[in-house]
Amino acid sequence: MRKSIYQLTLSQVTKSSGLFYALTIACVLMGFTACGGEDGNGGGSTSSSSSSSPSSSSSTVTSLYQLTTFPIGVAVPASNWNNSIIDSPERQQIAKTHFSQLSAENIMKPSYLHPQENTYFWDDADELIDYADANGMSMHGHVLIWHKQLADWMINFNGADAAAWNTMMVDHITTVADHFAGHLQSWDVVNEAFTDGTTSSYRSSIWYDNIGEDFLANAFTAARAEDPNVDLYYNDYGISGDPDKLAMVLSMVDNFQTNAVPIDGVGFQMHIDMYWPAIATIQDSFQEVVDRGLKVKISELDIDIGTETPDADDYQAQATRFQEVVAAYVNTVPAAQRGGITVWGITDSDSWRSEVHPLLFYGDFSPKPALDGFAAGLEE
Ligand code: XIL
Repeated sequence: MRKSIYQLTLSQVTKSSGLFYALTIACVLMGFTACGGEDGNGGGSTSSSSSSSPSSSSSTVTSLYQLTTFPIGVAVPASNWNNSIIDSPERQQIAKTHFSQLSAENIMKPSYLHPQENTYFWDDADELIDYADANGMSMHGHVLIWHKQLADWMINFNGADAAAWNTMMVDHITTVADHFAGHLQSWDVVNEAFTDGTTSSYRSSIWYDNIGEDFLANAFTAARAEDPNVDLYYNDYGISGDPDKLAMVLSMVDNFQTNAVPIDGVGFQMHIDMYWPAIATIQDSFQEVVDRGLKVKISELDIDIGTETPDADDYQAQATRFQEVVAAYVNTVPAAQRGGITVWGITDSDSWRSEVHPLLFYGDFSPKPALDGFAAGLEE
């Protein structure tokens, strides 16, 4: 039986390295699922044994998003995906309490929205947007153009030439951006167009291979044409710790700005680990985008804890890492250029890399020390 989240709590709070650690002997706010289970872990009905909480799991954080003015987002499974937020009271409670923005983890990707050349499927994405609207949350659109999770018909498209491929790409963007116009705060227009490291270059994809580098500018221009107010992002992984790859992104940005191609921001996915990238490198990377007058969004944050069998010290170290990353963002990106911070999932069990326990909540929905670390970073 779940208990009220307003249940009186008794917490012993210590402050260490700027981070609040709480040891709770009763049930705390948002530790609600840790209250009722016979095992002390709450027994969330869809919880995974791979990510149960220590019995002392608790948090002093009552609401992440209320600690700041920029969007604090979370990617959610939706529709009939395993652990969809639509069917999960526990996920809904966490989302409403801590997050002011949602990203669709999968259902707005081309393979789901545009399964056949002449068939679009809106129901699931519309349902999620309605849910966000009803609960006062904004939506970040993910993703218009990517080399993965494409529809088979796109991969097999028999375009005669670059112009035919460009028309196909623009038709997709135009139809999708038009459908959602006015309902989204921002779009990932293009995702992961560059390769990694010192040899960073354009990534081979159906888009680059068939259209050439112009596909990037064409995609942004098409998205802007359908929605004058939505923020348009280029999104990629690794760019907070890979200066060569970031340089490719920045040269695209510079080229866009020279040629009046619309772009509002750069999304740093930040699927990172405990040591990489160094905080100084993260700050330098954000600064490059800030210097160009664009918004910076941490779009898919999760942090590999470094072991598949973490102990209490590992969870505390991960909390410190979350704190440092969030503080780096707040301290480097001016308020007007903060597109927000989104974590890539609610619980460790939901995560696309659940084996490395990278998120803010345990599989039983109780809060990890990482939640306190994230909050402490916002308050620096
Ligand atoms: C991932 C989802 O989390 C998984 O459920 C899916 O199987 C694959 O895609 N970069 C992105 C996201 O931009 O779309 C990816 O999401 C994670 C990496």
